[in-house]
Amino acid sequence: MGAAQQPNWPDPEALDAAVSKLRSVPPLVFAGECDDLKTKLGAVARGEAFLLQGGDCAETHAGATADNVRNKLRVLLQMAVVLTYAASVPVVKVGRLAGQYAKPRSSDSETRQGVTLPAYRGDAVNGFDFTPESRVPDPQRLVETYHASASTLNLVRAFVTGGYADLRQVHTWNTDFVRSSPVGRRYEQLAGEIDRALTFMQAIGADPDEFHRVDFHSSHEALILEYEHALTRIDSRTQLPYDTSAHFVWIGERTRQLDGAHVELLSKIRNPIGVKLGPTSTPDDALALAARLNPENEAGRLTFITRMGAKKIRDVLPNLVEKVTAAGVQVAWVCDPMHGNTWEASSGYKTRAFDDVINEAQGFFDVHRALGTWPGGMHIELTGDDVTECVGGGEALAEMDLSHRYESVCDPRLNRVQSLEIAFLIAEMLRNRTSPTA
Ligand code: PEP
Ligand code: CO
Repeated sequence: MGAAQQPNWPDPEALDAAVSKLRSVPPLVFAGECDDLKTKLGAVARGEAFLLQGGDCAETHAGATADNVRNKLRVLLQMAVVLTYAASVPVVKVGRLAGQYAKPRSSDSETRQGVTLPAYRGDAVNGFDFTPESRVPDPQRLVETYHASASTLNLVRAFVTGGYADLRQVHTWNTDFVRSSPVGRRYEQLAGEIDRALTFMQAIGADPDEFHRVDFHSSHEALILEYEHALTRIDSRTQLPYDTSAHFVWIGERTRQLDGAHVELLSKIRNPIGVKLGPTSTPDDALALAARLNPENEAGRLTFITRMGAKKIRDVLPNLVEKVTAAGVQVAWVCDPMHGNTWEASSGYKTRAFDDVINEAQGFFDVHRALGTWPGGMHIELTGDDVTECVGGGEALAEMDLSHRYESVCDPRLNRVQSLEIAFLIAEMLRNRTSPTA
């Protein structure tokens, strides 16, 4: 059987040319940075830190603009501050960005009004426009994906070390439309408390580096094998292979076959890696994946990202976590409350209800609490903009509102207000988890 979810590239020579180009370009990340992230994820696996991973379902090449990147980074920084301050846990920050350009699809083709074309597989593969020309897989897009990832990551690196992520900026992140929302006001209050704490720290002469910069890492689904293989390089320090397309890569619910090419790829690279686990995953699946992908049982190497659906999580997750834990397997458990909760509104838009997302998150915390295991983090599809893609939330977005500003080329994302809201709710769940109960 061939590798799952690969495009049918029509022109082998063009593919060879793109792959040769990609083999010659500089790495996007360094092996040492991947090791640092693995160390941090080890703390997550041990229950000493919490992972916040978020970004678009699918980035687009046209979307690699300064405004877009800044807005996404800004909401992630705001969420991280809420989690860190309100729940008093270190937060490991990972963007679903600078490489998230390829999508697995449930069908190879898409039919509209009697016309059938190849499905859109992400900007790394073909165009979103529903025309025959645009839908032809074009390997040159892999090279464009590299460049879009490079410019995104370059800007992110500049932002997080160049002053934008300085904790003194907590107020300035809270700008424009979000500021006037109830959650924006709640954030403003928290930012005020942080400001006072910082002033106090400065007054006593404490001004650590951590106040002025943050660690931020990139991640995406490792889907298109040509791309990931071409960017897999041997680390000069250790002589070991790292996938230098991102710090962290994961494989999805549709590509996690034990004997498949994606598991093979992940088993070879030394990055910290993730596997999505959907509601049909059995404890045996999880144990076999762990044995294959993390044979040395190293904490931080492997993250299981569960995406069960709000209705199923309380039934399915306990057995999985219990058996994996009983086997002594080191893993960070992270909740993706998005992908099990997608449905189609009557208008045809793919959407998710904010309440379902919260309900799955709460189920995740409840299950881990009952088992005495650590709810290690959240994996969220979100954007820094004021889009209308998920219904509900404090602004009570209705199905009718979806057409107002629906911009995702794939799954519906939480908008900036909804993202801040979920951060406060998760912080509460975390606080209840960590504080002693009566
Ligand atoms: C995704 O994360 O966008 C995705 C396709 O997820 P999953 O593999 O869990 O369906
Ligand atoms: Co998605």
